[in-house]
Amino acid sequence: MAPLNVGIIGTGIFATDRHLPSYQEMPDKFKVVAAFNRTKSKAVAFGEKAGLSKDKVYDDLAGIVNDPEVQMLDMLLPAQFNLDTVKRAIEAGKPVLLEKPIAATMAQAREIVKLADSVDTPIGIAENWLYLPCIDVARPLLEKIGPIVAFTHNSTGPFVTQNKYLSTSWRQNPEHIGGFLSDGGVHQLALVTELVGEIASVSALTRQVRKESGTVDIVFSTVEMRNSDIIGTFTYGSAFGATDKSVFLKIYGKNGTVVVELSDKKKPVVKARFGSTAEEGSEEEIHSVPLDDTFGVNAEFLNFHDTIVKKDKNVFKSTPRVAFHHLACVAAFLESSEKNGDHVKVESI
Ligand SMILES: NC(=O)c1ccc[n+]([C@@H]2O[C@H](COP(=O)([O-])OP(=O)(O)OC[C@H]3O[C@@H](n4cnc5c(N)ncnc54)[C@H](OP(=O)(O)O)[C@@H]3O)[C@@H](O)[C@H]2O)c1
Repeated sequence: MAPLNVGIIGTGIFATDRHLPSYQEMPDKFKVVAAFNRTKSKAVAFGEKAGLSKDKVYDDLAGIVNDPEVQMLDMLLPAQFNLDTVKRAIEAGKPVLLEKPIAATMAQAREIVKLADSVDTPIGIAENWLYLPCIDVARPLLEKIGPIVAFTHNSTGPFVTQNKYLSTSWRQNPEHIGGFLSDGGVHQLALVTELVGEIASVSALTRQVRKESGTVDIVFSTVEMRNSDIIGTFTYGSAFGATDKSVFLKIYGKNGTVVVELSDKKKPVVKARFGSTAEEGSEEEIHSVPLDDTFGVNAEFLNFHDTIVKKDKNVFKSTPRVAFHHLACVAAFLESSEKNGDHVKVESI
Protein backbone atom coordinates (compact mmCIF):
# COMPACT_ATOMS: atom_id res chain seq x y z
CA MET A 1 0.00 0.00 0.00
CA ALA A 2 1.17 3.54 -0.81
CA PRO A 3 2.05 5.72 2.19
CA LEU A 4 -0.71 7.91 3.64
CA ASN A 5 -0.48 11.56 2.59
CA VAL A 6 -0.33 13.77 5.68
CA GLY A 7 -1.21 17.46 5.96
CA ILE A 8 0.36 19.17 8.99
CA ILE A 9 -1.68 21.93 10.65
CA GLY A 10 0.59 24.08 12.82
CA THR A 11 4.30 23.93 12.10
CA GLY A 12 5.68 24.90 15.52
CA ILE A 13 8.28 23.26 17.76
CA PHE A 14 6.75 19.81 18.17
CA ALA A 15 5.71 19.52 14.53
CA THR A 16 9.31 20.24 13.50
CA ASP A 17 11.21 18.42 16.25
CA ARG A 18 9.07 15.28 16.59
CA HIS A 19 6.16 14.77 14.20
CA LEU A 20 8.08 15.43 10.99
CA PRO A 21 11.06 13.21 11.98
CA SER A 22 8.65 10.45 13.03
CA TYR A 23 6.87 10.52 9.67
CA GLN A 24 10.22 10.58 7.91
CA GLU A 25 11.33 7.52 9.91
CA MET A 26 8.36 5.56 8.47
CA PRO A 27 8.38 6.42 4.73
CA ASP A 28 6.48 3.26 3.77
CA LYS A 29 3.58 4.37 5.98
CA PHE A 30 3.47 8.18 5.75
CA LYS A 31 4.39 11.03 3.46
CA VAL A 32 4.05 14.65 4.56
CA VAL A 33 2.58 16.37 1.50
CA ALA A 34 1.32 19.73 2.80
CA ALA A 35 1.68 22.13 5.72
CA PHE A 36 -0.29 25.04 7.17
CA ASN A 37 0.79 27.71 9.63
CA ARG A 38 -0.74 31.03 10.67
CA THR A 39 2.68 32.69 10.34
CA LYS A 40 3.53 31.64 6.82
CA SER A 41 7.32 32.06 7.14
CA LYS A 42 7.32 29.18 9.64
CA ALA A 43 5.31 27.00 7.29
CA VAL A 44 7.78 27.82 4.50
CA ALA A 45 10.76 26.80 6.69
CA PHE A 46 8.92 23.61 7.65
CA GLY A 47 8.07 22.99 3.99
CA GLU A 48 11.76 23.14 3.11
CA LYS A 49 12.60 20.55 5.79
CA ALA A 50 9.76 18.33 4.57
CA GLY A 51 10.67 18.76 0.90
CA LEU A 52 7.33 20.36 -0.03
CA SER A 53 6.73 22.40 -3.14
CA LYS A 54 5.63 26.03 -2.60
CA ASP A 55 2.02 25.37 -3.61
CA LYS A 56 1.72 22.87 -0.74
CA VAL A 57 2.56 25.44 1.92
CA TYR A 58 -0.63 27.05 3.18
CA ASP A 59 -1.55 29.98 5.37
CA ASP A 60 -5.28 29.30 5.09
CA LEU A 61 -6.75 26.38 6.97
CA ALA A 62 -9.46 25.61 4.43
CA GLY A 63 -6.77 25.26 1.76
CA ILE A 64 -4.94 22.38 3.46
CA VAL A 65 -8.08 20.67 4.78
CA ASN A 66 -9.58 20.55 1.29
CA ASP A 67 -6.36 19.77 -0.60
CA PRO A 68 -7.38 16.60 -2.49
CA GLU A 69 -3.90 15.10 -2.10
CA VAL A 70 -4.14 15.23 1.74
CA GLN A 71 -5.59 11.99 3.13
CA MET A 72 -4.99 12.58 6.83
CA LEU A 73 -4.68 15.72 8.97
CA ASP A 74 -2.23 16.08 11.84
CA MET A 75 -3.02 19.10 13.96
CA LEU A 76 -0.59 20.76 16.39
CA LEU A 77 -2.26 24.00 17.46
CA PRO A 78 -3.13 25.12 21.00
CA ALA A 79 -6.05 23.05 22.31
CA GLN A 80 -8.65 25.79 21.92
CA PHE A 81 -8.47 25.16 18.15
CA ASN A 82 -9.13 21.41 18.36
CA LEU A 83 -12.94 21.59 18.18
CA ASP A 84 -12.95 23.77 15.07
CA THR A 85 -10.44 21.45 13.38
CA VAL A 86 -12.55 18.40 14.22
CA LYS A 87 -15.58 20.04 12.59
CA ARG A 88 -13.58 20.90 9.46
CA ALA A 89 -12.08 17.39 9.25
CA ILE A 90 -15.50 15.75 9.57
CA GLU A 91 -16.91 18.04 6.89
CA ALA A 92 -14.04 17.06 4.58
CA GLY A 93 -14.34 13.38 5.61
CA LYS A 94 -10.66 13.22 6.58
CA PRO A 95 -9.15 11.41 9.59
CA VAL A 96 -7.53 13.83 12.03
CA LEU A 97 -5.01 13.37 14.80
CA LEU A 98 -5.10 16.27 17.29
CA GLU A 99 -2.40 17.09 19.79
CA LYS A 100 -3.26 16.86 23.47
CA PRO A 101 -5.01 17.93 25.64
CA ILE A 102 -8.28 17.03 23.93
CA ALA A 103 -9.59 20.59 24.30
CA ALA A 104 -9.17 23.83 26.20
CA THR A 105 -12.38 23.43 28.21
CA MET A 106 -14.60 20.58 29.34
CA ALA A 107 -17.46 21.94 27.22
CA GLN A 108 -15.29 21.70 24.08
CA ALA A 109 -14.06 18.25 25.14
CA ARG A 110 -17.64 17.01 25.52
CA GLU A 111 -18.51 18.28 22.05
CA ILE A 112 -15.47 16.59 20.49
CA VAL A 113 -16.38 13.23 22.06
CA LYS A 114 -19.96 13.54 20.81
CA LEU A 115 -18.84 14.54 17.31
CA ALA A 116 -16.32 11.68 17.18
CA ASP A 117 -19.00 9.23 18.32
CA SER A 118 -21.35 10.43 15.59
CA VAL A 119 -19.08 9.71 12.60
CA ASP A 120 -16.96 6.87 11.23
CA THR A 121 -14.09 9.25 10.44
CA PRO A 122 -11.21 8.43 12.81
CA ILE A 123 -10.57 11.28 15.25
CA GLY A 124 -7.61 10.67 17.55
CA ILE A 125 -5.96 12.59 20.35
CA ALA A 126 -2.18 12.32 20.27
CA GLU A 127 -1.58 11.14 23.83
CA ASN A 128 1.72 9.46 23.11
CA TRP A 129 2.30 8.36 26.73
CA LEU A 130 -0.41 5.72 26.21
CA TYR A 131 2.13 4.04 23.93
CA LEU A 132 5.16 4.06 26.24
CA PRO A 133 6.95 0.68 26.20
CA CYS A 134 7.14 0.70 30.03
CA ILE A 135 3.38 0.00 30.08
CA ASP A 136 3.81 -3.36 28.35
CA VAL A 137 6.69 -4.24 30.68
CA ALA A 138 4.74 -3.31 33.84
CA ARG A 139 1.37 -4.84 32.97
CA PRO A 140 2.23 -8.56 33.44
CA LEU A 141 4.09 -7.74 36.67
CA LEU A 142 0.98 -6.05 38.06
CA GLU A 143 -0.91 -9.31 37.68
CA LYS A 144 1.62 -10.96 39.97
CA ILE A 145 1.36 -8.39 42.79
CA GLY A 146 -2.43 -8.14 42.81
CA PRO A 147 -4.84 -7.28 44.11
CA ILE A 148 -3.63 -3.71 43.76
CA VAL A 149 -4.53 -1.55 46.73
CA ALA A 150 -2.82 1.79 46.23
CA PHE A 151 -0.38 3.83 44.18
CA THR A 152 1.62 7.00 44.25
CA HIS A 153 2.52 8.96 41.15
CA ASN A 154 5.08 11.69 41.37
CA SER A 155 6.21 13.84 38.47
CA THR A 156 8.11 16.79 39.82
CA GLY A 157 11.05 18.87 38.72
CA PRO A 158 12.81 22.19 38.89
CA PHE A 159 11.62 25.27 37.01
CA VAL A 160 13.69 25.58 33.84
CA THR A 161 14.00 29.14 32.55
CA GLN A 162 15.48 28.13 29.19
CA ASN A 163 12.58 25.81 28.35
CA LYS A 164 11.60 26.32 24.67
CA TYR A 165 8.07 25.19 25.36
CA LEU A 166 7.61 27.62 28.26
CA SER A 167 8.52 30.55 26.02
CA THR A 168 5.52 29.96 23.70
CA SER A 169 2.99 32.77 24.27
CA TRP A 170 -0.03 30.46 24.27
CA ARG A 171 1.45 28.51 27.19
CA GLN A 172 2.27 31.70 29.11
CA ASN A 173 -1.30 32.96 28.61
CA PRO A 174 -3.20 29.67 28.61
CA GLU A 175 -6.75 29.41 27.34
CA HIS A 176 -6.63 25.68 28.20
CA ILE A 177 -7.81 24.88 31.74
CA GLY A 178 -5.05 24.28 34.25
CA GLY A 179 -2.22 25.58 32.02
CA PHE A 180 0.73 23.23 32.52
CA LEU A 181 -1.43 20.90 34.62
CA SER A 182 -3.32 19.96 31.45
CA ASP A 183 -0.47 20.59 28.97
CA GLY A 184 1.87 18.06 30.61
CA GLY A 185 -0.37 16.59 33.28
CA VAL A 186 -2.51 14.63 30.80
CA HIS A 187 0.60 12.61 29.87
CA GLN A 188 1.05 11.59 33.51
CA LEU A 189 -2.65 10.82 33.84
CA ALA A 190 -2.47 8.69 30.69
CA LEU A 191 0.25 6.54 32.28
CA VAL A 192 -1.60 6.21 35.60
CA THR A 193 -4.98 5.36 34.08
CA GLU A 194 -3.49 2.93 31.58
CA LEU A 195 -1.91 0.94 34.41
CA VAL A 196 -4.22 1.50 37.39
CA GLY A 197 -7.58 2.43 35.86
CA GLU A 198 -9.79 5.51 35.69
CA ILE A 199 -10.04 8.00 38.54
CA ALA A 200 -13.45 8.41 40.17
CA SER A 201 -12.89 11.34 42.50
CA VAL A 202 -10.12 13.59 43.74
CA SER A 203 -9.18 15.78 46.64
CA ALA A 204 -6.61 18.24 45.41
CA LEU A 205 -4.79 21.45 46.16
CA THR A 206 -3.16 23.45 43.39
CA ARG A 207 -0.90 26.48 43.56
CA GLN A 208 0.76 28.85 41.13
CA VAL A 209 4.49 28.91 41.95
CA ARG A 210 5.78 30.78 38.86
CA LYS A 211 4.18 33.82 37.29
CA GLU A 212 5.54 32.61 33.92
CA SER A 213 3.12 29.67 34.09
CA GLY A 214 0.14 31.98 33.59
CA THR A 215 -1.99 30.00 36.03
CA VAL A 216 -1.64 27.24 38.65
CA ASP A 217 1.36 25.02 38.00
CA ILE A 218 1.49 22.40 40.78
CA VAL A 219 -1.05 19.90 42.06
CA PHE A 220 -0.93 17.61 45.10
CA SER A 221 -3.86 15.25 45.36
CA THR A 222 -5.34 12.07 46.74
CA VAL A 223 -7.61 10.07 44.47
CA GLU A 224 -10.09 7.19 44.48
CA MET A 225 -10.32 4.92 41.48
CA ARG A 226 -13.43 3.93 39.53
CA ASN A 227 -14.80 0.38 39.90
CA SER A 228 -12.23 -0.64 42.52
CA ASP A 229 -11.11 0.11 46.06
CA ILE A 230 -7.73 1.40 44.87
CA ILE A 231 -6.62 4.73 46.33
CA GLY A 232 -3.64 6.82 45.34
CA THR A 233 -1.79 10.09 45.29
CA PHE A 234 -1.01 12.14 42.21
CA THR A 235 1.59 14.89 42.40
CA TYR A 236 2.64 17.00 39.44
CA GLY A 237 4.62 20.15 38.79
CA SER A 238 7.89 21.44 37.39
CA ALA A 239 7.86 24.83 39.01
CA PHE A 240 10.06 24.19 42.03
CA GLY A 241 13.53 25.41 42.94
CA ALA A 242 16.57 23.26 42.26
CA THR A 243 15.71 19.60 42.66
CA ASP A 244 16.13 16.41 40.69
CA LYS A 245 13.70 15.55 37.90
CA SER A 246 11.59 12.76 39.26
CA VAL A 247 8.93 10.76 37.40
CA PHE A 248 7.80 7.55 39.02
CA LEU A 249 4.66 5.53 39.51
CA LYS A 250 4.77 3.12 42.43
CA ILE A 251 1.94 0.61 42.56
CA TYR A 252 1.33 -1.35 45.77
CA GLY A 253 -0.37 -4.74 45.75
CA LYS A 254 -1.14 -7.24 48.47
CA ASN A 255 1.54 -9.44 46.93
CA GLY A 256 4.28 -7.02 46.02
CA THR A 257 5.13 -3.70 44.44
CA VAL A 258 5.82 -2.44 40.92
CA VAL A 259 7.65 0.82 40.23
CA VAL A 260 7.73 2.49 36.81
CA GLU A 261 10.66 4.85 36.89
CA LEU A 262 10.97 7.43 34.08
CA SER A 263 13.13 10.02 35.83
CA ASP A 264 15.94 9.46 33.35
CA LYS A 265 14.28 9.60 29.92
CA LYS A 266 17.17 7.67 28.44
CA LYS A 267 16.97 4.88 31.01
CA PRO A 268 13.34 3.99 31.71
CA VAL A 269 13.10 1.07 34.09
CA VAL A 270 10.46 -1.05 35.78
CA LYS A 271 11.20 -2.58 39.18
CA ALA A 272 9.24 -5.24 41.01
CA ARG A 273 9.28 -7.03 44.34
CA PHE A 274 7.03 -10.00 45.11
CA GLY A 275 5.69 -11.50 48.32
CA SER A 276 2.81 -10.85 50.68
CA THR A 277 4.91 -9.84 53.69
CA ALA A 278 8.34 -8.45 54.47
CA GLU A 279 9.49 -11.92 55.46
CA GLU A 280 8.38 -13.46 52.17
CA GLY A 281 9.63 -10.56 50.04
CA SER A 282 11.83 -11.34 47.04
CA GLU A 283 14.90 -9.44 45.93
CA GLU A 284 14.06 -6.50 43.71
CA GLU A 285 13.76 -7.43 40.03
CA ILE A 286 14.90 -4.80 37.58
CA HIS A 287 13.32 -4.97 34.13
CA SER A 288 14.89 -2.85 31.43
CA VAL A 289 12.50 -1.09 29.11
CA PRO A 290 13.17 -0.83 25.37
CA LEU A 291 14.32 2.74 24.70
CA ASP A 292 11.89 4.69 22.55
CA ASP A 293 13.40 8.05 21.58
CA THR A 294 10.02 9.13 20.20
CA PHE A 295 8.33 8.62 23.60
CA GLY A 296 5.46 6.69 22.03
CA VAL A 297 4.88 8.98 19.05
CA ASN A 298 5.91 6.46 16.37
CA ALA A 299 3.74 3.75 17.93
CA GLU A 300 0.84 6.19 18.13
CA PHE A 301 1.25 7.12 14.46
CA LEU A 302 1.38 3.46 13.46
CA ASN A 303 -1.81 2.82 15.43
CA PHE A 304 -3.50 5.70 13.58
CA HIS A 305 -2.24 4.35 10.25
CA ASP A 306 -3.71 0.95 11.07
CA THR A 307 -7.00 2.59 12.05
CA ILE A 308 -7.26 4.37 8.69
CA VAL A 309 -6.24 1.34 6.66
CA LYS A 310 -8.71 -0.92 8.47
CA LYS A 311 -11.42 1.76 8.16
CA ASP A 312 -12.31 1.10 11.80
CA LYS A 313 -12.07 4.03 14.21
CA ASN A 314 -12.17 1.61 17.17
CA VAL A 315 -8.69 0.33 16.31
CA PHE A 316 -7.22 3.57 17.69
CA LYS A 317 -6.31 3.46 21.36
CA SER A 318 -6.15 7.16 22.09
CA THR A 319 -9.74 8.11 21.34
CA PRO A 320 -11.41 11.37 22.36
CA ARG A 321 -13.30 9.41 25.04
CA VAL A 322 -10.02 8.16 26.57
CA ALA A 323 -8.45 11.63 26.42
CA PHE A 324 -11.62 13.18 27.86
CA HIS A 325 -10.96 11.36 31.12
CA HIS A 326 -7.48 12.87 31.46
CA LEU A 327 -8.75 16.42 31.03
CA ALA A 328 -11.70 15.68 33.31
CA CYS A 329 -9.20 14.73 36.06
CA VAL A 330 -7.47 18.10 35.64
CA ALA A 331 -10.84 19.86 35.79
CA ALA A 332 -11.61 17.96 39.00
CA PHE A 333 -8.24 18.97 40.52
CA LEU A 334 -9.04 22.60 39.82
CA GLU A 335 -12.58 22.39 41.20
CA SER A 336 -11.45 20.55 44.32
CA SER A 337 -8.73 23.10 45.01
CA GLU A 338 -11.24 25.94 44.65
CA LYS A 339 -13.26 24.15 47.34
CA ASN A 340 -10.19 23.91 49.54
CA GLY A 341 -9.61 20.22 48.90
CA ASP A 342 -13.17 18.89 49.06
CA HIS A 343 -13.61 15.53 47.30
CA VAL A 344 -14.88 16.13 43.77
CA LYS A 345 -16.19 13.56 41.27
CA VAL A 346 -14.37 13.28 37.95
CA GLU A 347 -16.85 13.93 35.14
CA SER A 348 -17.61 10.91 32.99
CA ILE A 349 -19.12 10.88 29.53
N1 LIG B 1 2.75 15.10 22.83
C1 LIG B 1 3.75 15.83 23.27
O1 LIG B 1 4.64 15.34 23.93
C2 LIG B 1 3.81 17.29 22.90
C3 LIG B 1 4.97 18.02 23.11
C4 LIG B 1 4.97 19.37 22.74
C5 LIG B 1 3.84 19.95 22.19
N2 LIG B 1 2.74 19.21 22.01
C6 LIG B 1 1.50 19.80 21.42
O2 LIG B 1 1.81 20.28 20.12
C7 LIG B 1 1.07 21.47 19.85
C8 LIG B 1 2.04 22.56 19.45
O3 LIG B 1 2.90 22.83 20.52
P1 LIG B 1 4.36 23.45 20.30
O4 LIG B 1 5.11 23.22 21.54
O5 LIG B 1 4.92 22.98 19.03
O6 LIG B 1 4.01 25.01 20.24
P2 LIG B 1 4.40 26.12 19.18
O7 LIG B 1 5.76 25.93 18.65
O8 LIG B 1 4.07 27.42 19.85
O9 LIG B 1 3.36 25.90 18.01
C9 LIG B 1 2.05 26.35 18.15
C10 LIG B 1 1.36 26.41 16.82
O10 LIG B 1 0.07 26.96 17.03
C11 LIG B 1 -0.04 28.20 16.36
N3 LIG B 1 -0.73 29.18 17.19
C12 LIG B 1 -0.39 29.61 18.42
N4 LIG B 1 -1.28 30.52 18.86
C13 LIG B 1 -2.18 30.67 17.87
C14 LIG B 1 -3.31 31.48 17.73
N5 LIG B 1 -3.72 32.30 18.71
N6 LIG B 1 -4.02 31.41 16.57
C15 LIG B 1 -3.63 30.55 15.60
N7 LIG B 1 -2.53 29.76 15.67
C16 LIG B 1 -1.83 29.81 16.81
C17 LIG B 1 1.35 28.64 16.08
O11 LIG B 1 1.32 29.49 14.96
P3 LIG B 1 2.39 30.69 14.81
O12 LIG B 1 3.65 30.05 14.35
O13 LIG B 1 1.78 31.59 13.80
O14 LIG B 1 2.52 31.33 16.16
C18 LIG B 1 2.02 27.30 15.82
O15 LIG B 1 1.67 26.80 14.55
C19 LIG B 1 0.28 21.76 21.12
O16 LIG B 1 -1.01 21.22 20.96
C20 LIG B 1 1.00 20.98 22.21
O17 LIG B 1 0.15 20.57 23.25
C21 LIG B 1 2.71 17.89 22.34
